[in-house]
Amino acid sequence: MGQGTPGGLNRQGMPGDRKPDGNDKKDKKFEPAAPPARVGRKQRKQKGPEAAARLPVVTPHTKCKLRLLKLERVKDYLLMEEEFVANQERLKPQEEKAEEDRSKVDDLRGSPMSVGNLEELIDENHAIVSSSVGPEYYVGILSFVDKDQLEPGCAILMHNKVLSVVGLLQDEVDPMVSVMKVEKAPLESYADIGGLDAQIQEIKEAVELPLTHPELYEDIGIKPPKGVILYGEPGTGKTLLAKAVANSTSATFLRVVGSELIQKYLGDGPKLVRELFRVADDLSPSIVFIDEIDAVGTKRYDAHSGGEREIQRTMLELLNQLDGFDSRGDVKVILATNRIESLDPALLRPGRIDRKIEFPLPDIKTRRRIFQIHTSRMTLADDVNLEEFVMTKDEFSGADIKAICTEAGLLALRERRMKVTHADFKKAKDKVMFKKKEGVPEGLYM
Ligand SMILES: Nc1ncnc2c1ncn2[C@@H]1O[C@H](COP(=O)(O)OP(=O)(O)OP(=O)(O)O)[C@@H](O)[C@H]1O
Ligand SMILES: [Mg+2]
Repeated sequence: MGQGTPGGLNRQGMPGDRKPDGNDKKDKKFEPAAPPARVGRKQRKQKGPEAAARLPVVTPHTKCKLRLLKLERVKDYLLMEEEFVANQERLKPQEEKAEEDRSKVDDLRGSPMSVGNLEELIDENHAIVSSSVGPEYYVGILSFVDKDQLEPGCAILMHNKVLSVVGLLQDEVDPMVSVMKVEKAPLESYADIGGLDAQIQEIKEAVELPLTHPELYEDIGIKPPKGVILYGEPGTGKTLLAKAVANSTSATFLRVVGSELIQKYLGDGPKLVRELFRVADDLSPSIVFIDEIDAVGTKRYDAHSGGEREIQRTMLELLNQLDGFDSRGDVKVILATNRIESLDPALLRPGRIDRKIEFPLPDIKTRRRIFQIHTSRMTLADDVNLEEFVMTKDEFSGADIKAICTEAGLLALRERRMKVTHADFKKAKDKVMFKKKEGVPEGLYM
């Protein structure tokens, strides 16, 4: 049974199952393994020699594209270089020529030159000139100077040694005056002024409105005022208001300090005033602001020294200019002083500067406002009570209030505190008042 069954199985299996199975497996193993290997090798071998014989098929590739772009850029660059070199060669002779011409002119004129005044023309080729420092000279005029434009009084360029006239300075504004023109508007604006509403309105009416709307004054039939004078205690905001005007106006703003009009040489002061108003007229509409006018505008009295007389002449020229420019009403004058009583009455008579704007010491409301303005950018502690300083009986000017705020800030800074306390303000106030009363401590001589 044991043999029978396996034998039987074998027998049955051997002839029936095994042969076909074995054959199939063998065939399958052979067939799939052999043919692909043969096919692969044969194909490769067949393709290899073919590829060597003919040109490879090249299809456009990212790398090729990149290389092409790169080469194109190199080509562009080379083209540019070529053009540049060509231009360089073309322009070079011109530059050399210009340089030659320039050096010739320089040789003719000789340098350095000095500036002088033409006093008188004698004949075609000679003139009398004066320089700002010395006496007058009789000199020649070089041939290339345009003689039609020479006229007595004009500014000329002179050779530095022989002083002959080598050039002409036309319509040159005095450098002193060009400095006075306010190019960059000051930062202060009307919003930085505490109180002074009436003063602001008045200055707007008297100075800005006539420049922007002259027809209003024509309608009513009055001549707008020529200018205003601001006066009042020191530190009440006169200069501040003028700065705010300069900030807001679209007119040309010329700024002078009275002391600038006092010059070293006789006649230079009045000349500067003349020049100032001439420039103001050229650039009109314009506003001329003369701060601290008491430097030149004091009462006329018997002057003893030449210097005093010169200062008076400067003021007389100012009066003359104020009268002189009424025909062309678009130059306005703002004067500022804290000693109006010492000014010459002629300066303030009706028809000249007849609008007087007083700057009083701030009242309680104004004080509060000024404190607000100056503390607005400070970090205050919670205990600060500014009302105490606002309501105090001491007399403060706007400048004092500013000083108190600054001082309080400095005290806090000294102790490296980030906030300013009430005690700081108190100390600061005492300090400012102490300084103001010329060192006499409060309550010492009670
Ligand atoms: N009304 C105000 N509002 C705000 N700040 C003021 C005011 N008045 C004065 N100040 C402060 O005081 C400072 C000094 O004021 P300003 O220079 O205008 O004084 P001034 O009237 O021209 O004095 P002086 O007659 O001495 O020239 C200003 O920079 C400003 O910070
Ligand atoms: Mg001032």
